[in-house]
Amino acid sequence: MNQTGQTQDELKTLVAQAALSYVVPGEYLGVGTGSTVNKFIDALAASGIAIKAAVSSSVASTQRMQSLGLPVVELTQVERMAVYIDGADEIDGHGFMVKGGGAALTREKIVAAQADRFVCIADASKRVEVLGSFPLPVEVIPMAAPQLVRQFKALGGQAGLRMAHGKPLVTDNGQHVLDVVGLRITDPLGFENAVSQWPGVVTVGVFAHQKANVCLLGTSQGVQTTVYD
Ligand code: 5RP
Repeated sequence: MNQTGQTQDELKTLVAQAALSYVVPGEYLGVGTGSTVNKFIDALAASGIAIKAAVSSSVASTQRMQSLGLPVVELTQVERMAVYIDGADEIDGHGFMVKGGGAALTREKIVAAQADRFVCIADASKRVEVLGSFPLPVEVIPMAAPQLVRQFKALGGQAGLRMAHGKPLVTDNGQHVLDVVGLRITDPLGFENAVSQWPGVVTVGVFAHQKANVCLLGTSQGVQTTVYD
């Protein structure tokens, strides 16, 4: 709870509602994954705004949208989207983000890359000066995981396999996720470039190339809008 008594959940609701003004009626809309996006999906369904269809970044978001009657198409059917709306685990002053807390980072990065504008919706706890406090998610090919753990150790990070119900979590793409703690990512573009080259890395959760163009941050003073480009 913050000074004005708003919970993190209420701040997520606030930014989810604010994101509706970025939806272009009659167009395709990219939709991310997570608890903030779930609130956005609910708000979109309740708003009556008619989109051509949504392009989803996860099975979970697809199911939620379809259950609310929102049309969803495959990304392969769409060339470009005007807007992609998604949450973040961390966002810095340049719009660079860490994402993947919901294990959907690969599809999120792919869908975001086909959108003209990334609108990030997040509560104030996600705003950081330097990326790296939140454990960095990295989707990996399972056989590469032990070597990748060693490579992150050489950078000063401790990587652990994400577990679910006592077993390694399996992503929508059939792969595993490493969460890396102990990193201070001062050069997000360089870091993303470097780690993306490591054999066995499917997607690193640093979104520097697919950074946010706009951030709607839920704060005790209301929604703070930052435009990065
Ligand atoms: C999922 C993500 C989410 O956007 C991120 O984890 C933020 O989630 P939440 O809105 O639940 O705080 O990257 O892979």
